[in-house]
Amino acid sequence: MKRSSDHILLVGLTGAGKTAVGRLVAGLLGRPFVDADVEVGPARGTGGSAPGAAGTGVLLDALEQPAPLVVAVGDAAVLDPRLRRLLAPAGSVVWLRARPETLVERLAGREGRAPLRVEPASSLDRLIAERHPLYGGLATGVVDVDDLEPAQAAQAVLDAVVRRVPVEVPGHRYETLVGPGALRRLGAMLPSRARRAAVVSQEGVDVEVELGLDLVRVSIPDGEAAKSLSTVEGLCRTFARAGITRHDVVVAVGGGVVTDVAGFAASCYHRGVDLLNVPTTLLAQVDAAIGGKTGVNLPEGKNLVGAFWQPLGVVCDTSTLATLPEREWRSGLGEMAKYAFLGVDDLDRLPLPEQVARCVACKASVVAADEREGGRRMVLNYGHTLGHAVEAALLERPGAELRHGEAVGIGLVFAARLARLLGRIDDARVERHVEVVAGYGLPTRIPAGLDPSELLALMTRDKKATEGLTFVLDGPSGVEAVRGVGRETVEEALARSAAGAEASA
Ligand SMILES: NC(=O)c1ccc[n+]([C@@H]2O[C@H](COP(=O)([O-])OP(=O)(O)OC[C@H]3O[C@@H](n4cnc5c(N)ncnc54)[C@H](O)[C@@H]3O)[C@@H](O)[C@H]2O)c1
Repeated sequence: MKRSSDHILLVGLTGAGKTAVGRLVAGLLGRPFVDADVEVGPARGTGGSAPGAAGTGVLLDALEQPAPLVVAVGDAAVLDPRLRRLLAPAGSVVWLRARPETLVERLAGREGRAPLRVEPASSLDRLIAERHPLYGGLATGVVDVDDLEPAQAAQAVLDAVVRRVPVEVPGHRYETLVGPGALRRLGAMLPSRARRAAVVSQEGVDVEVELGLDLVRVSIPDGEAAKSLSTVEGLCRTFARAGITRHDVVVAVGGGVVTDVAGFAASCYHRGVDLLNVPTTLLAQVDAAIGGKTGVNLPEGKNLVGAFWQPLGVVCDTSTLATLPEREWRSGLGEMAKYAFLGVDDLDRLPLPEQVARCVACKASVVAADEREGGRRMVLNYGHTLGHAVEAALLERPGAELRHGEAVGIGLVFAARLARLLGRIDDARVERHVEVVAGYGLPTRIPAGLDPSELLALMTRDKKATEGLTFVLDGPSGVEAVRGVGRETVEEALARSAAGAEASA
């Protein structure tokens, strides 16, 4: 499946500064700039000439690029309904808005710019009446450029592309910033008393953090094996040698392994130091870094030692995801598929930062209602009961392992089949699960060769099975914990999921 795009697309009338500002924004983010605001030239693939055609060709080429870009978009694209539909999901659209007098003043004396160059004021008014509603309909952010130098406008664009999602856990209100370049705002989240920061990351995570403080950089090993008490001990000892005190701050920069381990170290070092999370995988941005669960594994099981430790803030800089390997991207999609059944559907029509922001908002609302997983927070485990069992069973088979989100995809479809057998949902809802999971390019069937009785044993390992099993299942009132599910029903759902059978009563 094609990755969601994270371009920054600038729209606005000629003279608003799309090209000058776009170049500056690109420079600040270290991204390429593409000027698709070319008014007259050969149409792509036709050899002919048409107003805006060259720009449209450049734009279409740019939108196909996997690497995030900054693009100045010409009005030919804004005026074309087909192209407008392509723009909205392609990234953050920012409208550089200018008053008519600003436009006239800026364009006075400029050669070769149509149409304002030749238009009288009444035509400019008509142009504004026609185009402003179109810009407004497309834009996720607006920057009024009249009183801004290009450098100031570029900073304002970077502000406009960052979404702010509040997390309101009682006693711990903080913000999650989501968007390209959001990392530039990390310093503003620092507590004023902090003198030093311990930045915990991994070798493969190439994300630089500058905070204007003394930084102690610590790298932890890669993989689930690094989520251990010995890694936490190593971190705490490094903090101690570097003189980190309770007034300082730990900054976790990486995937869920880093945010879980660094978060737990922050929760217990000096009985608790401030924490900032900078998640750099899709999975960590939409899930692991939000909500304050931290912890490590024991040989006896996953996440058995940990603490609830809310960060001071979270920065999901979507630009950091550009380097994420394909498999890790897919893993994040499994968690996104889960949110589709927790009320955040149709994400694929949205640009990447908006998708992440909506998932964060969903997780934030669940966590705000139930920080300590006394009830409602369990819904975040939707798809995870079988998912964890499949992950664990495949660990024994080198080469066949699934990433967490891939296993969650299988778990979501299984949970739907189980809910269908219990009469909680209908066939169409099961189909919707298959459609969403498959739509994300994730597996929907239990991999061949996995023994259902082993999966059942793994699923019930931590559960008292005397009065039936507890699962998180979809139903008439949405996803919720369901107790007392009989073994035979679970076995039947496993059989159907292994066969990939379409659910029926
Ligand atoms: N605390 C929670 O609420 C919660 C929720 C869900 C998952 N988790 C935990 O999260 C962990 C999984 O997290 P994950 O899927 O992010 O895996 P991960 O942290 O192992 O990261 C996957 C890989 O991607 C690399 N990586 C990270 N950022 C990168 C980047 N920008 N570019 C290139 N490579 C990058 C990492 O170095 C690693 O090799 C599990 O341990 C799981 O238990 C915790």
